[in-house]
Amino acid sequence: MIQKVVVTGGLGFIGSHVVVELQNEGFEVVIIDNLSNSSIDVLKGITAITGKQPLFEKLDLREKESVIDFFKRHHDIIGVIHFAASKAVGESVNLPLLYYENNLNTLIYILQELQKKEAANFIFSSSCTVYGQADTLPITESAPIKEAESPYGNTKQIGEEIIRDTCKVTDTLNAIALRYFNPIGAHESAKIGELPIGTPQNLVPFITQTGIGLREQLSIFGNDYPTEDGTCIRDYIHVVDLAKAHVAALKRLINGNNTDNYEVFNIGTGKGSSVLEVITAFEDVSNKKLNYKIVDRREGDVIAAYADTSKANKVLGWKSKLNLRDALASAWKWEQRIK
Ligand SMILES: NC(=O)c1ccc[n+]([C@@H]2O[C@H](COP(=O)([O-])OP(=O)(O)OC[C@H]3O[C@@H](n4cnc5c(N)ncnc54)[C@H](O)[C@@H]3O)[C@@H](O)[C@H]2O)c1
Repeated sequence: MIQKVVVTGGLGFIGSHVVVELQNEGFEVVIIDNLSNSSIDVLKGITAITGKQPLFEKLDLREKESVIDFFKRHHDIIGVIHFAASKAVGESVNLPLLYYENNLNTLIYILQELQKKEAANFIFSSSCTVYGQADTLPITESAPIKEAESPYGNTKQIGEEIIRDTCKVTDTLNAIALRYFNPIGAHESAKIGELPIGTPQNLVPFITQTGIGLREQLSIFGNDYPTEDGTCIRDYIHVVDLAKAHVAALKRLINGNNTDNYEVFNIGTGKGSSVLEVITAFEDVSNKKLNYKIVDRREGDVIAAYADTSKANKVLGWKSKLNLRDALASAWKWEQRIK
């Protein structure tokens, strides 16, 4: 029997890649998206890659009645993968209530509907931001959660707590929170990728936009950090690898292989790369010299973060396969396509 999965935010950067992997694995997908940070054209990209158009409902998950109605109409779903959220850290500082409403109310409304079901599987997009500057590297799932640096980061911490507390009193609900490190790259076909609206918040879109000439110069925020070359270190994970982790997590729940009804996994490569290393790798794969300058440190940036992925490797049976160069080459191919 074909299994039907709901993907909220499924036209966004990570969600669209997950929809592709789910369809490739034979799942039927229903996407919910309000198009607040995506384009309807992404649907065409997904269809071109997989040969199958997912179902799509334009719906704002902040509208509780619409969420209730959606789950009534789609009573046969086997699980929900919840990406829909606002994600700009800087914006969240200025618009905290928008972030708390969009990232937490939507989560609550979905969980309320899943709680009514005889059985439900739920996967949540969390982030390594919950660890702040971890005391020990690489970061394991048992590292302490640090006080959030922004309302955005706080929504991920509170989101995890909401799911954990709900699972405690709901035997019929099985949930996994995936703590992503730094997702980058695009599908190898260059038919879907990251579509930053306005100024990119993340390093790689900034790099590719500078490479293509959309931006004059790339700013590196600080080169006096206590790292080998003085720039910050992150764990950059190819979005296609990340997408496959969601399929592994969903199958774990569907097959009843989970040992607890709320589990948490780090999803990264396990390898840290500095900003300068990323720039050099980009210059290499693109054959372009990047114009960059060093500016002051940015408030809230942690020095270094990379994952201990052994739990995901062992328990989920998932491991990242693509490296930084693969990811940058795919991001560059995508940038050239959308320019
Ligand atoms: N990209 C990253 O670096 C990163 C890192 C860690 C965690 N995450 C989390 O992963 C998830 C997906 O991130 P992304 O990079 O794909 O973001 P994205 O903005 O590309 O995708 C989110 C999608 O959700 C939709 N959406 C937002 N609010 C909605 C609402 N109220 N109703 C319906 N749809 C709504 C947007 O239109 C968009 O298509 C988010 O929860 C984000 O916080 C992202």
